[in-house]
Amino acid sequence: MASNWQPDGWKAHEARHLPVYEDADELTGVEGTLSQFPPLVFAGEARALKADLAEVAAGRGFLLQGGDCAESFAEFHADNIRDTFRVLLQMAVVLTFASKQPVVKVGRIAGQVAKPRSAATEIIDGKELPSYFGDIINAMEFEDETRRNNPQRMVQAYGQAAATLNLLRAFANGGYANLRQVHRWTLDHIGSSPWGEKFAQTADRIGEALDFMEACGVNPESVPQLQGTSFYTSHEALLLPYEQALTRRDSLTGDWYDCSAHMLWIGDRTRFEGSAHVEFLRGVGNPIGMKCGPSLEPDALLKMLDTLNPAREAGRMTLISRFGNDKVRESLPRLVCAVAREGHPVVWSCDPMHGNVIKSDSGLKTRPFDRILDEVRGFFEVHRAEGTHAGGIHIEMTGQDVTECTGGAIAITDGALADRYHTHCDPRLNAAQSIELAFLMADMLNLESTERQKQAA
Ligand code: TRP
Ligand code: MN
Repeated sequence: MASNWQPDGWKAHEARHLPVYEDADELTGVEGTLSQFPPLVFAGEARALKADLAEVAAGRGFLLQGGDCAESFAEFHADNIRDTFRVLLQMAVVLTFASKQPVVKVGRIAGQVAKPRSAATEIIDGKELPSYFGDIINAMEFEDETRRNNPQRMVQAYGQAAATLNLLRAFANGGYANLRQVHRWTLDHIGSSPWGEKFAQTADRIGEALDFMEACGVNPESVPQLQGTSFYTSHEALLLPYEQALTRRDSLTGDWYDCSAHMLWIGDRTRFEGSAHVEFLRGVGNPIGMKCGPSLEPDALLKMLDTLNPAREAGRMTLISRFGNDKVRESLPRLVCAVAREGHPVVWSCDPMHGNVIKSDSGLKTRPFDRILDEVRGFFEVHRAEGTHAGGIHIEMTGQDVTECTGGAIAITDGALADRYHTHCDPRLNAAQSIELAFLMADMLNLESTERQKQAA
């Protein structure tokens, strides 16, 4: 356990990108309320995820992490949760079937509601109000009351996260995720993509494998692993008053866990030395992700690893690189080398989204699918060259048929972006683009294992 640590110790450190709450008593009241609410996840589950990630760190498995850039209160609906979940299931099944490796499934969901902003306030027509920090803090509408940083919204976010998690648990273990249902996960709108056809073929082959195993006496009734799946939640640990209020001491081990999600990550803008966010995450036992962007030097990364994982526990740290397709091949190797040289056990995961944002001709923010794919390819190439494991992917995606990223097999053009551009923040891959990415990544994973087998021989 971290030495000299308290859940509120972060308050003595430099906190960037936190909203300022005007009424301190109102904030204290909400923190008190939240701290009496039940935890959303249980420490034992966070430890189970850590054990799964330790396997990935050792080269035996792959981390699939995905969901909205930002969840919203307005789009909180069972259909949206189900659609995101089913695309993640489809991706997982494609990756598992093709690579023959277990896939650890983690949603950016049930708590991904706070966004870091570069400026605390925004001025429109001479009027200054707080910037929009995500639905857990304020609302997008530029009005005095809606833009006010309102602590009460944390209570609503907690309720939404609890209901979301409840549904996800039901889907994961109540029959929906049974491998026998694989054909039913297909969404109508991906049928027209060539990858929809390819998914149906994969599903057929899985069905055949299950038929064969069934004849041999193995079926979902006798083998519970076929009946359901482990599905974990994660979000950026940005809003520290919320995270602190949900931090509890585990009765089994006496260790502290942030029980707002299984996994928490720290953003590229809050991972500096002396940061309040680093101080907070240092003391909780959950698996931790850290975004690694172009400004991160190898020495600073090693220092962070020593701070966040002094015991060098495998599964504790996931490093999520986000360089952009034009920089990944040049900049990632020094970080990978430094970590390998120091012997830190980490999962290397690739965020091909945040380094590849451009403004389209229509003025909308977008991410070309080709660049996303190229960053993923670069990530796999770097790890192949260094002899390390390309361990995961971190994407912003949705099960909805949106038009936010250009390209893909059903090519979305610049001009079509405005058709169904619904994101509350960054552009997301739609269902068809996500499945396409999963198939292409499965090939990359196979190349890695072929290479490994050659070296072992
Ligand atoms: N339990 C196994 C796993 O999670 C197999 C499995 C069941 C599965 N349902 C699934 C795999 C849905 C992917 C998607 O890997
Ligand atoms: Mn984003």
